Order: sequence, then structure tokens, then C-alpha cells
Amino acid sequence: MKLYHYGLFSLFMANSLPALAQQDVRDIFQQNCASCHGDNLEGGMAKSLVDKQWQYGTSDKKIFETIKNGVTEAGMPAWGSLLSDQDIRALVVYIQEKEYQAQQNELKSQVSEAGLAEFSTKEYTFSLETLAEFDSTIWAVTALPSGDILATEKQGKLWLIQPEQNGKKQVITEIKGIPEVWHRSQGGLLDVAVHPNYPKQPWVYLSYSQPSSSIGSDKEGTMTAIVRGQIVDGQWQSQQMVYSAPAKFHTRSGHHFGSRIVLHNGYVYFSVGDRGKMELAQDLSKPNGKIHRLYYDGRIPQNNPFVKQKEALPSIWSYGHRNPQGLALHPLTSDIWETEHGPRGGDEVNLIESNKNYGWPVITYGINYNGQPITDKTEMPGMEQPKHYWVPSIATGGIEFYQGKTFAKWQNNLLVTGMAKQELRRLVIRDNQVVEDEVLIKDQGRVRDVGVSPDGDILVVLNGANQTYKIVKLKVKS
Ligand code: HEC
Repeated sequence: MKLYHYGLFSLFMANSLPALAQQDVRDIFQQNCASCHGDNLEGGMAKSLVDKQWQYGTSDKKIFETIKNGVTEAGMPAWGSLLSDQDIRALVVYIQEKEYQAQQNELKSQVSEAGLAEFSTKEYTFSLETLAEFDSTIWAVTALPSGDILATEKQGKLWLIQPEQNGKKQVITEIKGIPEVWHRSQGGLLDVAVHPNYPKQPWVYLSYSQPSSSIGSDKEGTMTAIVRGQIVDGQWQSQQMVYSAPAKFHTRSGHHFGSRIVLHNGYVYFSVGDRGKMELAQDLSKPNGKIHRLYYDGRIPQNNPFVKQKEALPSIWSYGHRNPQGLALHPLTSDIWETEHGPRGGDEVNLIESNKNYGWPVITYGINYNGQPITDKTEMPGMEQPKHYWVPSIATGGIEFYQGKTFAKWQNNLLVTGMAKQELRRLVIRDNQVVEDEVLIKDQGRVRDVGVSPDGDILVVLNGANQTYKIVKLKVKS
């Protein structure tokens, strides 16, 4: 019966399509729209197009106009100069088809139950075991020395997961009392990290989009902020601001918060994306597009590279970044490695060093999402080359170096998440060069973050497949 219905539906839609199609609308969508709205229109960097929530109008005409003219201040490009009216019309139809299908539950993600899928990689075969499910996008996961797990839900919730142990059932607790977040577009509650001597030093660090109102500004904007606090009986306590940008750096942009945190040797390193204004990544008087370094309590280290430079912000450690959404400490060299969510075709892996310029937007391997060039330069003297990059983009998220027993052959390999391509990858790094790049997981949902437990378990955040948001664990097949 379902089949019959579906057949009728396709026939109907086919008849209503204009006579065109030099290029399949699916391909037009995949090439131009999927990087933001998701391969199956389920949403990602931009909203879902199949959830029946229309901000800019639901009629054919309104949707057509939105695509043609864009909503540039919200980050939706204008397509009128690139796509013909026929192409745009086809897209309107395609979106409505997909929305209809989603409502009918015909939109199947490739795998319905992650637990059933098995992955064969070079060294190991493993399956995925779900540890916890949530209501909406999870941004970060981190394992504590005890084996407990902290996770952030982007809408503004911090969770403590105490896994099943010695016959005691798993307990999931929401930590109450964390700061209010600006939850829109890419903003919200973002990364979570703990002090290297946790729990002796019981500090938990959070990055988030801080609402301007909470710093006493009457703007409606936001900017990346870092706060630390302690968790006592399910309650966030002893809060201290580590980094909070002055109101002049707050904007309404929902783009590129960066936001990963690494704590090491007395310093907190954190990333701030260009916030949708790419030229600011080269401007040392702005926090945008930078990796910053502070002492654990937020004070400025006097040996930071730009402390003595007039106009430059003293917290800056490196610059020329677009949207660094991955930051990790190499277990042997203690170098900071970064993944940068690039433009279309420009995702990068970088080794971060003090005072260096990573080139965005002067050099890049990517192009604009709407297919127009950003620059014809991929390298330039005085600017760092990535250690690795992906064309097409995988849409890099969080990263972590592997250490542990469970996957002993992956010692010190870098695990990299890819959202748009729904991948977990493993990079082998030798003498600071990436010598191997293997896909471990594919098509299970948008992979936003990865963590490694003290036992060597790999924890992966999977968002969006069949409207599920979960943390899974890789289970080796013996
Ligand atoms: C660079 C990212 C990006 C790309 C690429 C992109 N969009 Fe969007 N789109 C957005 C954003 C951002 C919004 C604003 C909604 C939001 O996310 O809050 C949006 C909104 C829309 C809306 C309005 C939804 C509503 O709620 O009314 C439609 C329709 C749409 N996009 C279609 C498309 C189509 C079709 C393409 C490809 C031709 C496309 N978009 C490509 C980012 C993008």
C-alpha cells in the first residue's frame, strides 16, 4: 500500500515539474545546498528543509524568492546569479517532495539501527553500541578519568552520564545552573573539557555563545565565551568567567563560533571562528578567526606572541583561521593540532604554533558555498600550509588523539569527525606529517565529536539520522 501511494506521488510530482533538466535537481541540490542543509535536507549548518517549519514563507513563490534572493544576513546565499529560474523552480519542487516524503516517514536514513551495522577497517572490525540518546544536537563529548562522560546539548544543556557499572544501571543527570546560552543557528552550548588533573582540580570548562544581554549590553548579539565551574551534586557551582569578549565584538551572526578547548601545562587554548566575517581572521585587533591562549584562570600569559604589539589582542596565539571546530593535544609531542571547518572544499588539518598565520581568507583550498571563488591563491610566503586537507569537504568537527588498549594499533592516531560526509576518520601522523587517512564510520548521522575514555573506548556523537541524537561506543568484534 505504501508503495502504491509512493508511486502515485512520484508520478504527480513528475508531471508538475517544468520541462527542463539539463541537470538532475538532485545533483543541483547536492552540489549547491547539501553542504548546509544536509544530504537529505535534514539540516546541518543551516536548518532542516523537511521539518515543516518555514521562517520565510511556505508558498512556492516565497520559497522560490528565498532561494533566488537569499537571506544573506542569516547566511543563506542568493542563487539568482548562479542558477537559472528553472533550476530554482526545480529545487522548490524537490524540497517539497522531500518534505512530503519525510512526513510520510519515507525518508529513510541508510541505517535504521546503528547497533546492527558493522564496520570493517584495516585493523579492526567493530559495531556501534548506543550509550545515550538525546532530544537534539549534541555538540561535544568528553570522558572523565572515572569513566563518567560529560556531554553538551547545543540548545543549552550539560549532561553527566554515569555508565552501567558493577550491575548498577546507567544514570544520566542534567547539570543545573550553567550559564544561559544564545541558541540560534550555529550558536549555543558548545565544547566541554576538564582540567588535566581532574578531579583533584575539579574545574570543568565550557565554551558557548554568550548572549550580549548577559554582559550588560542592550545589543541582541553574541560572541564565543569560555567559563569554568565545578559540578557538585548535579549542580554547576563556583563559576568563573575565563574569556568573555567586550560588547564591541558581539554581533548577531549565527556563524563560526569555533569553540574547542584544550587545557595543557597551565594554559587554556581555545578557538574562535571568523563569525562569518572572513577578513577579520587577519585582523589582530579582533578576536575572530584566532586560537587564543590564557592561563587556566583567564589571565593573559605575558609571553604570548602579541602581548607587546600595539592594537593586537594579547590573548591571540595564532591567526588566519576560518572556523576551527577541532583542537587536540598530541600525546607524545604536546603539539596542538587543529581541524578547521573550511569553505566548500577547504577543510584543513593544521599544526598550531605561536605567532603563525594560517592564511584564511588570503589562501585556501576551498571556494564559496555558492561556487564562486574566494581567491586563486592556495599558498603564500609567511602563511602556513595545512598538514592535510579535504576536497570535497567532509565538514570537520571535533578531533581526538587515540590512546588506550582497546584499539592498540591506533596508538596516537588522530580521530577526525566529518559532519556533512557523516564520517569518522583516522589519520596516521608521522614526523608531523599525515601519512594515512582512513574512513572508519560512514553514513550513521552527522559526526560532530569524538572522545576517548581512560580505558581506550572510542565515543562518537551521531546527530540527525532518523531524528536521533546519540553518543555511541565502538565495540570491537573479537
Ligand atoms: C552556506 C550555507 C547555505 C547554503 C549553501 C544554502 N543555504 Fe539555504 N539557508 C541557509 C541559512 C543559514 C538559512 C536560514 C535559515 C536558518 O538556518 O536559520 C537558509 C534558508 C533557506 C530556506 C528558507 C527556509 C525557511 O525556513 O523559510 C530555503 C528554502 C533554503 N535555504 C533553500 C536552499 C537551497 C535550495 C539551497 C541550494 C541552492 C540552499 N538553501 C543553500 C544556508 C544555506
